Amino acid sequence: MSIALVILAAGKGTRMESDLPKVLHKIGGAPLLHHAMLSASALEPERTIVVTGHGADLVEAAALEFDADAIAVRQDEQLGTAHAVKQAKDALDGFEGDMIMLYGDTPFITTDTLEAMIAARTTHDVVVLGFKAADPARYGRLIMDDTGLTRIVEYKDASDAEREVTLCNSGVMCADAATFMDLVSAVGNDNAAGEYYATDIVGIAKARGLKATAVTCDEAETLGINSRLELASAEALFQQSKRRELIEDGVMMQAPDTVFLSFDTIIGRDAEIEPNVVFAPGVTVESNARIRAFSHLEGAHVSRGATVGPFARLRPGAELAEDVHIGNFVEIKNASIDEGAKVNHLTYIGDAQIGARTNIGAGTITCNYDGVMKHKTIIGRDTFIGSNTMLVAPVTVGHEAMTATATTVTKDVPDGAMAISRAEQNNKPGFARKLFSILRAKKAKQAKG
Ligand code: UD1
Ligand code: CA
Repeated sequence: MSIALVILAAGKGTRMESDLPKVLHKIGGAPLLHHAMLSASALEPERTIVVTGHGADLVEAAALEFDADAIAVRQDEQLGTAHAVKQAKDALDGFEGDMIMLYGDTPFITTDTLEAMIAARTTHDVVVLGFKAADPARYGRLIMDDTGLTRIVEYKDASDAEREVTLCNSGVMCADAATFMDLVSAVGNDNAAGEYYATDIVGIAKARGLKATAVTCDEAETLGINSRLELASAEALFQQSKRRELIEDGVMMQAPDTVFLSFDTIIGRDAEIEPNVVFAPGVTVESNARIRAFSHLEGAHVSRGATVGPFARLRPGAELAEDVHIGNFVEIKNASIDEGAKVNHLTYIGDAQIGARTNIGAGTITCNYDGVMKHKTIIGRDTFIGSNTMLVAPVTVGHEAMTATATTVTKDVPDGAMAISRAEQNNKPGFARKLFSILRAKKAKQAKG
């Protein structure tokens, strides 16, 4: 069965109190829209159509970033969810199969739930995803009888008896695409809100002798985001479930509540994550690696047996080979560090390549930026970089080479050579004692007068 997705993302999201369109607010480092697209992408949809309106340019760009084949359609005026679905008509031209309507602000719907809806389609024309609400509040209510789902009534239009119903509408609906579009075109706006409600298609289907039913899921799955408080709660839920998933897969965390993960964080079995570590998007940590406390990682790859931190920062393009050691107050950006190399203290390595087993001394800096352009530093294997070496890029230090402490390297260093570029030391006998007494006398005079 071919599947088309229609994701509604035109709403303003007034209650977010934000200039950013609602669906672009992030959970686990990814926009809400991507979460909605992600769970549905496992169904391998033939077409993915995103309905945009408020902040359309930004939302379209985000849709295309997730799926270059996504089709964005505009809803210039937000006249309701049925009106939004109608905008997908041309984009569905020639498509045959089932259509699933989803909301861009509802990030946690699972693939299993969508599959259950598709399965229910074999016996019903329209399938709606419902949930038992702990607090039904203003959700649309699913009105059932022994023939199945008869209609959906919006809270504003519901009678007192209907408001007692706790089975609520999540917003996700599935039907044959042609049928769906046909039903939607019959929806009017004669209701309390004066809007075209997509939910009306159930009653219309029923009147036409079609069969509708509800598939239910856990309330947590249908959580929609309308405010920053809801966004924060959703983030907390996401973090909990992502931590749980990793721990169940064999990751060691002493204080899981202090570890922050992204939607795409991958951590191998027996890796150890100490407290207070942040994983921004794009991080892979292999088995048996150890990420020590208070480290921040983004767009980085940490291989087996490597150690990072405490207090380390891995920025995009940090590529650590097996058994690499990155220590405290070290920043690595766009650099590959080969097997067994050590960068242990107070160092910046950017736009660089460090060979196997090389040791980078404390306070070393790759001076990669000249104020306009970035340049590369290449250091060979089994080399020793003395403390406080400044490597002025572009520059290459060979294999089995050395730099003396406090050297400023401006020229390439050949294999096996030692670079030293500091002024010779000159000791002045007695000079320190003399200077101390002059300074102390001066201070005493100032204190008196
Ligand atoms: C909707 C459902 C309600 C359900 C609830 C679940 C309708 C009429 N009601 O109500 O039964 O319980 O979701 O959260 O569908 N959108 C557009 N264009 C529009 C209007 C909305 O793209 O013209 C988008 C919004 O951006 C949002 C989604 O559709 O992503 C839902 O719209 P919203 O206004 O939040 O619907 P609710 O009133 O919450
Ligand atoms: Ca809503």
